[in-house]
Amino acid sequence: MVTIKTSDLSPAQLQNYLQYAIAPRPICFATTIDKAGNINLSPFSFFNLFSTNPPLCIFSPARRVRDNSTKHTLENILEVKECVINIVNYSMVQQTSLASTDYAKGINEFDKAGFTMLPSLLVQPPRVAEAPVQMECVVTEVIHLGERPGAGNLILAEIKLIHIKEEILDAEGRIDQEKIDLVARLGGDWYCRVTPQSLFKVEKPLTTLGIGVDALPGHVRNSWVLTGNDLGMLGNIEEIPTDEEIDEIRQHPQVKEICDATIGDAQNRQRELHELAKEMLGGGQVKEALKVVLLEV
Ligand SMILES: Cc1cc2nc3c(=O)[nH]c(=O)nc-3n(C[C@H](O)[C@H](O)[C@H](O)COP(=O)(O)O)c2cc1C
Repeated sequence: MVTIKTSDLSPAQLQNYLQYAIAPRPICFATTIDKAGNINLSPFSFFNLFSTNPPLCIFSPARRVRDNSTKHTLENILEVKECVINIVNYSMVQQTSLASTDYAKGINEFDKAGFTMLPSLLVQPPRVAEAPVQMECVVTEVIHLGERPGAGNLILAEIKLIHIKEEILDAEGRIDQEKIDLVARLGGDWYCRVTPQSLFKVEKPLTTLGIGVDALPGHVRNSWVLTGNDLGMLGNIEEIPTDEEIDEIRQHPQVKEICDATIGDAQNRQRELHELAKEMLGGGQVKEALKVVLLEV
C-alpha cells in the first residue's frame, strides 16, 4: 500500500490521483448566462445529487490549477443565479468535450460545439435540445472553497423543472436505465459508458436486516472459493436457515452427488460445496446457497 500525504503533492499531482480514484463521476453540462445576456455552456464532473427534498444538485467550477483563473460559469452564476443542468449521453460526449474548451468570455459554446439552444420555461439560460434530461435550476448558494489553484466553488442548484425525452422512458413513465445511455468522467482522458452489458443489480438491504458476514462460519468467511461479493450476498439473508432446512438441502441432486463422491474427504467436499454455492449465488439462489455452505461436512 502506498500512503501519500496530500500536502506533499503539487495541486496537479493531487488532482491526478483524486480524479482517477474518485470515478466515475456524472457530468453536469451547465448552461449559464451573464447580466448582458451572454450564454455559456460547460461540462463539470465535480457534480452530484445531494438532496431530493429540496431537489438539490451541487457542481463545482474550480479555479484553474494552471493559472488560478476562475471559470465563466462561476462568474455568470454570481451575476444571474440560474442554470440549466443538462445530462450527457454517449451520443453527445465528443461535442461536450469540445464545449469545455477555454473560449473567450462572450463566446457561446452552443455554436462552437454544435448544440441546439432550446428556450427554458422558468429560467433565462437555454437548455441543450440534444440532452436526454434537462433540469431548470435556481442557484440558492455559492460556497467558495479557497483562493488557491484548484479551489472549488460549490454551486448549490435547486431543480425546479425536469424535462425528459420520451424515448428514454419505460412503460411506467420512469427513466429506463438501459435507454438513457449515460457517460461519466474518470481520470485524465478516460470516460465510461453505461451499456446494458455494464449494468447489474445489487438488491437493496433497506427493508431487510441481513445476518451479516460475521454470522457466517469461519470456513465460509475464509473460503478459497467464495469472494467478498459472494459473502456480501450470503450476509444479506435475514435469517440463518433452521437445522431442518439445512438438512433438506442434502436431497438436492448436486449436493447428493458431491457427498457421494467425497466420502471420507472432508476437505474436497467442503470445496465442492462452496463451488456449488457460488454457482447458486450466480443464479440468484441465495437462500439455497446459504444452506449448502452451512451443511456439516
Ligand atoms: C467532462 C468534463 C468534466 C469537467 N469537469 C470539471 C469540473 O468539475 N470542474 C471544473 O472546474 N472544470 C471541469 N472541466 C473543465 C471545464 O469544463 C472547462 O474549464 C471549461 O472551459 C470551463 O468553461 P467556462 O470558463 O466557460 O465556465 C471539465 C471538462 C470536461 C470535458
